[in-house]
Amino acid sequence: MVWKNILVETEDNLALVIINRPKLLNALDTETLGELDEAMTELAVNPAIRVIILTGAGDKAFVAGADIKFMQSLDPLQARDFARHGQQVFSRIENLPKPVIAAVNGFALGGGCELAMACDIRVASENAKFGQPEVNLGLMAGFGGTQRLTRLVNPGIAKEILFTADQYDAQAALRIGLVNHVVPSGELIDFCKKMAGRIAAKGPVAVRLSKEAVNEGLEMDMEKAFIHEADLFALTFTTADHAEGIEAFLNKRKPAFKGN
Ligand code: HXC
Repeated sequence: MVWKNILVETEDNLALVIINRPKLLNALDTETLGELDEAMTELAVNPAIRVIILTGAGDKAFVAGADIKFMQSLDPLQARDFARHGQQVFSRIENLPKPVIAAVNGFALGGGCELAMACDIRVASENAKFGQPEVNLGLMAGFGGTQRLTRLVNPGIAKEILFTADQYDAQAALRIGLVNHVVPSGELIDFCKKMAGRIAAKGPVAVRLSKEAVNEGLEMDMEKAFIHEADLFALTFTTADHAEGIEAFLNKRKPAFKGN
């Protein structure tokens, strides 16, 4: 499928999803959110794809936030619908049955930072800048940022980011745990593809259930989360991949996982 504001490139088991509004630093309006949702949903059910990398077009921005011009025309109820739409799209990305790596190639501000936080893993280029500048506009974060930021970094740091609108460079983002790695700008996509390739070589069901155990476990008390983990662990024993993985180890060969 071809979208107006989203590009999808596939290579082996990997898909690269590019938010493609570079003149507006890839700002998100309703149409772009809808297209992103459709693209991700298609990739989720595409059996050839095991890992998704999400990035922004150009070398300046991942996503510079929600589209400010678009938001100017919204009344309060439309603003609420817009926030809910973004929250729902981002939650679907967060819970996609495949890993999603954010390749943060520049500004990740407001809704852009919130989108990066909905991904499983964040890798930043050296020129990346993070922040929640909504209060500069008399607004607040509305695509899940108040919650995801608080869970990802500690609540005091989250509040400082939300209250001051300060921008954090890639190294500062690494220090507070907002990103996993910082790499030179020219190496960002390659680095993410290599990581995605390592993940794609593992048992896909095992990776999927690991993601589910982490995400769902965060919403449970510890003992329930352990039981849930054990149930998902048991589920891996129903797969051909688990037999393949164990047999390959015992025969000192590389496993060939098929995703079933
Ligand atoms: C619409 C945007 C935009 C945005 C940039 N542009 N960010 N348009 N929405 N979020 C546009 C600019 O208007 C400009 O268009 C072009 O992109 C290039 O941007 P410049 O400002 O000229 O670039 P630069 O001087 O390098 O500054 C980069 C920047 C700045 C620091 C990222 O653009 C900026 O502060 N942008 C806004 C960031 C922001 O406040 N994000 C949060 C939005 S609120 P023209 O036509 O002039 O070339 C939000 C809420 C989420 O995200 C929750 C909603 C429910």
